[in-house]
Amino acid sequence: MTRMTVFAVGIAVVVAAAVAGCKKKATTEAGGTGTGGPGPGTGAGTAAVAPARPSQGPLQAMPALALPDDPARAAKIALGNALFFDKRLSVDGSRSCYSCHLNENGLGGADPLAIGAGDKTLTRHSPVLWNVGYQKGAFYWDGRSATLEDQAKAAWGGGNLGVGKDNLAAKATQMGAIAGYKPLFKAAFGDDAASVDRIAQALAEYERTIVCADTAYDRFAKGDKTALTDEQQRGLDVFMIKGQCGACHTPPHFSIAMQVDGGVYFNAGVGTAGKDEKDVDLGRMTVTQNAIDWAAFKVPSLRNVARTAPYFHDGSAATLADAVTYMSSGAQANKNLSALLAAKNLTAAETAELVSFLNALDCTGTLAEPKLP
Ligand code: HEC
Ligand code: HEC
Repeated sequence: MTRMTVFAVGIAVVVAAAVAGCKKKATTEAGGTGTGGPGPGTGAGTAAVAPARPSQGPLQAMPALALPDDPARAAKIALGNALFFDKRLSVDGSRSCYSCHLNENGLGGADPLAIGAGDKTLTRHSPVLWNVGYQKGAFYWDGRSATLEDQAKAAWGGGNLGVGKDNLAAKATQMGAIAGYKPLFKAAFGDDAASVDRIAQALAEYERTIVCADTAYDRFAKGDKTALTDEQQRGLDVFMIKGQCGACHTPPHFSIAMQVDGGVYFNAGVGTAGKDEKDVDLGRMTVTQNAIDWAAFKVPSLRNVARTAPYFHDGSAATLADAVTYMSSGAQANKNLSALLAAKNLTAAETAELVSFLNALDCTGTLAEPKLP
């Protein structure tokens, strides 16, 4: 079950079995409440044990993020925080990492497609960075970076900050030459030399602090039964049972990709409508070269989703209601669409409840803007 790309079109039994497999593994890894929790009810087996109202049964709370011992972690985080906000890291001083993962956009992007250094439009929408440290060895919509450190180098050298892979070392030296950075590098790494690896490590350590574990859903899961309104509790039931959303957006991360090594990818039909096959973003297939991954993308977490419009890897859904309606009403037919996305025939009231529940996933924190060195 290492390759969780399961979309054999029309082979619903295989898909259901694979998802049940993920779910089991996810439960074990999260160290959660065991097998009695609410299941998505995709297979006959899970449907039989799922309570009628998942909202009234035990719910999984967020596990703590496991981090190796590192006495210099706090210093690396401080350095990474400054670098994340520092436009001098880009080729032309126009952008920092933060420019595309802003507080006011819920740490995602406001542009449907991100616009990188030199005002060059990139091919995908900026994903939400909350809980990014929980991703299991698969960053980006297609999972092509295995570590946060690799991802940071790719964003820095690639179109996002535009520095160019071959120029990263020179840029690192420039950053290290800024007087205010010297004590930060020294505290983090023992001496004040800046390098590409050190900068990537500091950015990654900082990103691992971007944790959202205090939503209304989390308070409800921990026993505060006033944390969700009645409508939101009904919305959670729709999410888990009739809507089948939890099969892919599995609590407590609201993404099964954060619970399975290497991530989990599905073809949800996004970006395929009215396009020649050759013009479709291949998604996960770019990484695996496997046809079953055609136009498949990593399942995004839905934490903070109400604050992160627009939606999808191509930013094609303008509002949360649009995205929810798309997901629940059969999605865009194409040669590789996941069978799990068959139309759920939700009523208008159920759709409203679903949207109301998704508002209970708002993250309360913001990233603190540091004083730059
Ligand atoms: C121009 C906008 C832009 C800038 C600047 C930018 N990013 Fe991003 N970021 C994106 C986009 C777009 C993606 C998704 C790209 C893809 O999947 O192909 C992304 C993806 C990510 C991811 C993967 C998240 C996940 O869930 O897999 C991380 C982590 C990240 N960015 C961190 C950073 C860091 C660190 C920097 C600075 C070095 C940075 N970003 C700069 C737009 C940007
Ligand atoms: C088969 C797995 C699967 C199921 C079932 C599923 N989703 Fe998704 N969802 C995805 C994938 C994959 C994406 C990303 C698609 C893309 O951008 O190409 C996504 C994206 C989303 C987004 C946009 C998130 C963002 O940050 O852009 C929302 C909102 C969403 N889904 C809600 C739902 C709801 C509500 C349901 C239930 C009615 C549901 N999904 C069912 C796999 C699934």
